[in-house]
Amino acid sequence: MSELLREIEGRRAKRALGDRKIPSEVAGRIMTAATYAPSCFNNQPWRFLVVVADEDLQKIHAALPDANYWVKKAPMVVVVATKPDLDSQLSDRRDYALFDCGLATANLVLQAFKEGLLAHPIAGFDPFKVKENFRIPDEFIVITLVAVGYPGDDTLLNAKHKQLEHGPRVRKPEADVICYDAWEFSASG
Ligand SMILES: Cc1cc2nc3c(=O)[nH]c(=O)nc-3n(C[C@H](O)[C@H](O)[C@H](O)COP(=O)(O)O)c2cc1C
Repeated sequence: MSELLREIEGRRAKRALGDRKIPSEVAGRIMTAATYAPSCFNNQPWRFLVVVADEDLQKIHAALPDANYWVKKAPMVVVVATKPDLDSQLSDRRDYALFDCGLATANLVLQAFKEGLLAHPIAGFDPFKVKENFRIPDEFIVITLVAVGYPGDDTLLNAKHKQLEHGPRVRKPEADVICYDAWEFSASG
């Protein structure tokens, strides 16, 4: 298997994070990787708020639902935000700001994995609270928070998460999501 595919396949959205601090040069490389992502017209619509100070991590914790209790262990959380007008808005609903933030987040996650860290994006948070706590202008969309940390103790996870941590990777069959040369998917997807 090619080296890169092995890395991509090896990454998992694990939840057993340790609270060991991340050296600033490692955090710096992870964030640099995010900024090397491609973007429409090179608009680079992503804005990252890297949260590492304990008192600021508390502001993240206040925005988490119980289900994402495990994020509280993370020594670093990256707030990924953008606005539609920071990127191209083209015909047929092609708003590229969120798309390009996704590409940047993928780079971030893969570089973190390469550095021996776990990086797990989440949608389960209160975006209004994040914006309020960090004084992020309302025009921005906080599309994800990425919890980053070294692998930690999975005995602190609930039973469901413990099982997922070691379970098989779940993916749709490729034939359900990839077709070649002719469109094979129905209008419902
Ligand atoms: C945009 C996004 C939002 C997610 N939100 C959460 C979340 O709120 N809580 C959680 O535990 N996992 C969350 N995940 C992790 C996914 O559940 C996980 O990536 C998926 O089950 C596939 O597992 P894998 O990444 O290990 O292959 C999220 C992932 C993405 C990309």
